[in-house]
Amino acid sequence: MEDYSKSIDPRKVPIHVAIIMDGNGRWAAKKKYPRIEGHRRGAEVVEPIVEAAAKAGIKYLSLFAFSTENWARPRDEVKGLWKLLEMFFELKLDRIKEQGVKVLFSGGLQGLPATSRRVIEEAVRQTKKNSRITLNFCINYGGRQEIVDAVNGWIETRKSGEKLSEKKLSAFLYNPKIPDVDLLIRTSGEYRISNFMLWRLAYAELVFMDVLWPDFKAKHLYRALIEYQNRERRFGGV
Ligand code: IPE
Ligand code: IPE
Ligand code: MG
Repeated sequence: MEDYSKSIDPRKVPIHVAIIMDGNGRWAAKKKYPRIEGHRRGAEVVEPIVEAAAKAGIKYLSLFAFSTENWARPRDEVKGLWKLLEMFFELKLDRIKEQGVKVLFSGGLQGLPATSRRVIEEAVRQTKKNSRITLNFCINYGGRQEIVDAVNGWIETRKSGEKLSEKKLSAFLYNPKIPDVDLLIRTSGEYRISNFMLWRLAYAELVFMDVLWPDFKAKHLYRALIEYQNRERRFGGV
C-alpha cells in the first residue's frame, strides 16, 4: 500500500481541519446491521484519525458528531448516540490524554443528558494542559446557532451605540481561539455543509470523499491533505 504520509509537504499542512463524519447509517444498512452499529464503528475510527492528524502536524481538528438538526432522528438512535459518546470517553480518555490531545467542545451542552455532559466536561478538564493537537468535538452544534450565540454574547457587553464588526463577532464564537477552518472534509459522498462551522468555513478548501465514515482511515486523511496542498488559495487576491 502506498504511504501517502510521505507525499505531504510539512510546510503546507492546514492548521485547522474540520470533518463532517457522515455515512454511519449507510455503512450499517449495507451490512444489514442496525444504524447504531454504524455509529459504534464510526466512533472507533475517531481515535486513530486524531492520532494521524497529530502526526501530520494538524493543530486543530473539529469533528462534527451531532448537529442541532439531528434531534429529528428516532429517539432510540439519539439515545444510543449519547451512550456511545459516554463510552467513547470512558474507554479512550486515558489514551487521548497520553497522546497530548486537548479536548474542547462546541455546541449546546444544555441539551444533552447530564451524564454525557459530565463526561465531556471531565475530558476537557483532564486534557486542558495538553497542546500537541486540539480536538474540538462539535455536539449539538449548529453553525447558525453559533453565530446567534456569538451575537447574543456580544450584546451583553455592548456599549450604547456600539456597532458589531467581524472581529468582534469572532471573539464571541465557541472557543474563539480556534482559527478559521483551512480544510473541510466530508465523507459519504454528500456535497453539502449541513450547517457546520458556517463562520469559520468562509475560505476553507472543501474536499468531499466517497468513503463512509466507518471505513475512513489515515490514508484517506492524508489523501485529503495532498488534495489540499495542490489547491491554490487566493483569498480574493490574484
Ligand atoms: C453521521 O452518520 C453520524 C451522525 C450524523 C450522528 P449518519 O447517521 O448521518 O449516516 P447516514 O448519512 O445516514 O449514512
Ligand atoms: C451532518 O450529517 C451532521 C453530522 C455528521 C454530525 P447529517 O447526516 O445529519 O446531514 P444531512 O442530513 O445529510 O445533511
Ligand atoms: Mg448522514
